[in-house]
Amino acid sequence: MKKDSIQKQWDKAAEAWADFVRTGRDYSRFEMNNPAMFKLLGDIRGKKILDLACGEGYNSRIMASKGAKVTGVDFSKGLIGFAIEQEKKDKLGIDYFISDASDLSGFKNDSFDIVTCFMALQDIKDYKAAIKEICRVMKKKGRFVFVIPHPCFEGRIINGKRINGWVFKKGTKTKSNQNALYYKIDKYFVRNRYMIDWNMKRLTINFKTTSFHRTLTDYADALYGAGLAITRILEPKPTRRGLVKYPFHFERNLRVPDSIVIEAVKC
Ligand SMILES: C[S@@+](CC[C@H](N)C(=O)[O-])C[C@H]1O[C@@H](n2cnc3c(N)ncnc32)[C@H](O)[C@@H]1O
Repeated sequence: MKKDSIQKQWDKAAEAWADFVRTGRDYSRFEMNNPAMFKLLGDIRGKKILDLACGEGYNSRIMASKGAKVTGVDFSKGLIGFAIEQEKKDKLGIDYFISDASDLSGFKNDSFDIVTCFMALQDIKDYKAAIKEICRVMKKKGRFVFVIPHPCFEGRIINGKRINGWVFKKGTKTKSNQNALYYKIDKYFVRNRYMIDWNMKRLTINFKTTSFHRTLTDYADALYGAGLAITRILEPKPTRRGLVKYPFHFERNLRVPDSIVIEAVKC
């Protein structure tokens, strides 16, 4: 399989990503997105779950510890390498495979009760093909549960310029929560591919990856077109613990959501 540039970026970022997640620096996962996704997933004991674009397997391990039979898939050899290394230590019974999300031909029709995709569908180039494949490998009434940056409020970049973002009081030096006036949104209907520079101070290694802006309608149409009906939506808010521990990071998420969790069921 010829590697595309996005795959190369994730291979290059594999060590940095594993470090980011495993050292507890991915605050949004721990204090906002995972609590919401696991609330929506409910009891997963005994369920056959495909964790699509599983990265180094952090959430695959949580689901396996909760009693699910988990298969993790990602197109990055580097990330799957980290996942397998960890599985050798934990022995949670997780199977990992390298595959593009848009071609799951290694899996039979109607194989899984649930497919999860945590913060990755926005990075998957051919998301329509991936959603079709997800539907195919899921059993009837199977659930596809995914988390993506909220398409309405995504902090994205067009021609090198940040389009959406907080507007602060004029003349204030600090970008504090108190100085945040409102959240500005523009060009929502302009779909684009853009680069994310993971250069936050809390990261020990910086890296760059690619994301795609699509509208909510684009995702809803792709789900509907594949034979999946949206059943539930959650717009995560930070946990109390998150607010106390990282107020700067989270207080504004009580005003505007960063992400959205969607459940769609195979009809
Ligand atoms: C932001 S990371 C999230 C990883 C993981 N879900 C987690 O919880 O840490 C996005 C992931 O999507 C994967 N990815 C992007 N495009 C993909 C594709 N076309 N097929 C399979 N995996 C893909 C990347 O390799 C990366 O692991």
